[in-house]
Amino acid sequence: MRKGMTFTRFIIEEQRRIPESTGEFTLLLSAIVTACKEISDDVNRGQLINVLGSAETENVQGETQKKLDIISNDIMLRALEWSGHLAGMASEEMEEVYPIPSKYPTGKYLLVFDPLDGSSNTEVNVSIGTIFSILRCPENISAPREEHFLQPGVRQVCAGYVLYGPATNLVLTTGQGVNGFTLDQDIGEFILTHPKLKIPESTSEFAINMSNQRHWEPAVKRYIDEVVAGSDGPRGRDFNTRWVASMVAEVHRILMRGGIFMYPRDNRENVKEGRLRLLYEANPMSFIIEQAGGASTTGRERVMGVCPDKLHQRIPVMLGAKEEIGRIDRYHTEMDKEIESESPFRQEAN
Ligand code: F6P
Ligand code: MN
Repeated sequence: MRKGMTFTRFIIEEQRRIPESTGEFTLLLSAIVTACKEISDDVNRGQLINVLGSAETENVQGETQKKLDIISNDIMLRALEWSGHLAGMASEEMEEVYPIPSKYPTGKYLLVFDPLDGSSNTEVNVSIGTIFSILRCPENISAPREEHFLQPGVRQVCAGYVLYGPATNLVLTTGQGVNGFTLDQDIGEFILTHPKLKIPESTSEFAINMSNQRHWEPAVKRYIDEVVAGSDGPRGRDFNTRWVASMVAEVHRILMRGGIFMYPRDNRENVKEGRLRLLYEANPMSFIIEQAGGASTTGRERVMGVCPDKLHQRIPVMLGAKEEIGRIDRYHTEMDKEIESESPFRQEAN
């Protein structure tokens, strides 16, 4: 007998705790997980089955697509469109909302996803992942349009990711804490290996792409200058840094051993609003992090409180250990106050 509960048993037992549950959500989750197992297999055998490298096409955000970005997106669509649980889907790799083909029934949920996050890492055999978020389709809408997907993160029903690394991990929240599973390749099932994940409130580890330093706002510069100064600086202790360039791997590390992840907005033209996408990157990761006892901010507000105004909206995101995220928020507030007090309009008013 193997140790640990299977994912199938876990979701069925969760379903039993909600007497009015129809089982629709359980089946939807199960279909998502099956799709991710297929992606995991392609990622794993990438070099051997000739699916690595660029597809020579661009997605809606002007990023070059990898062959695996397109393959993973197709796997998600094909595995979920027939299920009858979804009213529509949206993904990083598709400009427009994906309607459920008319030959299939529709359901009450919407799915948004990043089919292969961190895909710049595919050729170098570094961890990548699929991120997903489940929303409720507004009442009486059977053919949802973009506006129906534009819901703040607090309205997510479920968020999760599957990390394709040395092991394949599934991490999931439905708002009742966070649970982590590991794929047992021999039996093709995820096994509950990390029940009730929690992040320590304090940390001495941070992740940020330091090459963007000269573009950051003063609040971010101040925070990073202080942690880099280590025991010689105002923080009085040394910090460690990591940057995988794969948000899924970054968030997973934070869930396993603590830390923070930062992708602030900066003054480059395409990062003015932030780099990561609100609906299928920042929101699901923020839901997971908050449910594990961490915090997630834009520097000025809670990520999950932001009302999206477009499908592929970008946003600054800083998440992880509560104490450090609180400090980053404070530095932003102090910076904004200072800027306001120096404004010529303000001086005129005085
Ligand atoms: O899709 C966004 C992403 O790949 C994240 O997974 C990652 O954190 C980030 O971009 C890396 O960005 P950069 O290449 O600018 O460091
Ligand atoms: Mn991504």
